[in-house]
Amino acid sequence: MRAKWNPDSWRGHPIRQMPEYRDKDALGSVERKLAGFPPLVFAGEARALKARLAAVADGKAFLLQGGDCAESFAEFSANNIRDTFKVFLQMTVVLMYAGGLPVVKVGRMAGQFAKPRSADTETIGGVTLPAYRGDIINGIEFEAGAREPDPQRMLQVYSQSASTLNLLRAFARGGYADLHRVHGWTQGFVANSPAGERFRDIADRIAEALNFMEACGIRSDLTPQISEAEFFTSHEALLLPYEEALTRVDSTSGDWYDCSAHMIWIGERTRQPDGAHVDFCRGIRNPIGMKVGPTLEPDELIRLIDMLNPENEAGRLTLISRMGHDRLAERLPALVRRVAREGRKVVWSCDPMHGNTIKSASGYKTRPFDRILAEVRGFMAVHRAEGTHAGGVHFEMTGQNVTECIGGAQEVTESALADRYHTHCDPRINATQSLELAFLLAEELKAARDTAAERRAVAS
Ligand code: PEP
Ligand code: CO
Repeated sequence: MRAKWNPDSWRGHPIRQMPEYRDKDALGSVERKLAGFPPLVFAGEARALKARLAAVADGKAFLLQGGDCAESFAEFSANNIRDTFKVFLQMTVVLMYAGGLPVVKVGRMAGQFAKPRSADTETIGGVTLPAYRGDIINGIEFEAGAREPDPQRMLQVYSQSASTLNLLRAFARGGYADLHRVHGWTQGFVANSPAGERFRDIADRIAEALNFMEACGIRSDLTPQISEAEFFTSHEALLLPYEEALTRVDSTSGDWYDCSAHMIWIGERTRQPDGAHVDFCRGIRNPIGMKVGPTLEPDELIRLIDMLNPENEAGRLTLISRMGHDRLAERLPALVRRVAREGRKVVWSCDPMHGNTIKSASGYKTRPFDRILAEVRGFMAVHRAEGTHAGGVHFEMTGQNVTECIGGAQEVTESALADRYHTHCDPRINATQSLELAFLLAEELKAARDTAAERRAVAS
């Protein structure tokens, strides 16, 4: 028998990573206010995403999820939103072409503001203050007032998320996402940068395919599939008072949906089976994700799948593997095999960011491009060997020309990290590194496609 669920039943479970709000009345008043605000997304859209993800689980589509580690109030601007969306679209075209599959696009955008931390406090020069937990909770400045959790910040997150989502919807449907235009940008990248030159051949082939379709009459002005994009939002469901306040009964189905985003996920630090975050997520009907790190054992994974997807519904659950490039080969195969053997319908996605963070000599958190690529390649290899679908990737990325991750064809060096290190939390790959990764990934997808075709040929 499954325990009864309500949007607030998580409150009866042990909870990790929860800030201590001093003023409970202020917190309650913000929660009530949020509960009265309109939902940010419509349940029907979350169901549409679930259907797209069901195709991914079935090996018929590929998932691209990405965006900031932490959105912030300071970095909020139309240009930032536009540039991340733009690189997202460019990556999509490359991946679609190489994999021969639709690409499901899910941003870590319009709500990704709460951060789990490994330590509750931070000490600098003998002064100890509460750790920064994301702009939805407290301020990044190392100063006692800023670090005090402030519930009013949730209202600013709601408003920033609503504006971000509004602009994304406008870009997606208003002509900005036209495939011809998107590929035009990529051709500029190939022509004008040493990083792009290597990919000239595939970029030319994509241009030819688009010209061919145009000649067939599949034109932007007649075909929304060419002129528009379908884009979804997601974030980690970490700050449960905020998520609960945006959880509503969908009038068309009578089911509960968390209307703060289309998809939400459970982080590596909050996936305890008896914990509050798992309890909250099990009751809502959105597609959900769960991070799968190197300490998770197959039995515990199956137990979590039983709780989060008891009906074995395809598209409901995305497992986001984040092992680290050096641990993946040892940890991932047993999990993939067990899930496949028990017939559990899941999307397997690869987050090559969170297991590959190192500290540079100058003290910056960074991620070497080579290790990111090595983890993605390792992930694809495991799925090829197991005969399962490498369903997608999950990146911390930005459309800005930041210097946060070292390496790539642009050769960001350790000493360049200080130049444009803007992230509020983890280091992101920049626009060039993101596109380069998409092209390199395209080569992997092509290989996976060829292996699948060979298997079919042998079988027939
Ligand atoms: C994140 O995705 O930003 C994150 C904190 O990841 P994880 O839970 O895998 O550490
Ligand atoms: Co992160």
